[in-house]
Amino acid sequence: MPDLVQLAIAAREHAHAPYSNFRVGAALETTSGTVYTGCNVENSTYGLTICAERVAVVKAISEGVPPGSFVHIVIAADTPTLTPPCGACRQILSEFAPAATITLVNLAGLSKSYTIAELLPESFNDSFFR
Ligand code: THU
Repeated sequence: MPDLVQLAIAAREHAHAPYSNFRVGAALETTSGTVYTGCNVENSTYGLTICAERVAVVKAISEGVPPGSFVHIVIAADTPTLTPPCGACRQILSEFAPAATITLVNLAGLSKSYTIAELLPESFNDSFFR
């Protein structure tokens, strides 16, 4: 079984965060056991910044992983309390990884796991317009 916590912490080292100096890592496991990692990648225009979670999801989808085939994502940041995923990432996870366990960790060993329904209740999805 892959050590998603260590992989997320290692991915965080690649963060490109010269503006916020806030580094985030993510490790996303598929149903077949492959792990895709991500880190936040910031941009001087700020709004083009991409969060670690979204980088991991987009890497996996772009490699041909079918939407919905994710079992677990670990998100790592260096904060005394756990860093929750932003709203945009919650929406992306609700569409691409609705069944995945979402585990937040910090570097001190604190962790807590959630379902996407807990993090994004009453979410928007394509059932409203299809
Ligand atoms: N960030 C993430 O990578 N994931 C989150 O869920 C929260 C925020 C990044 C974006 C930005 O580079 C930095 O943290 C500060 O907002």
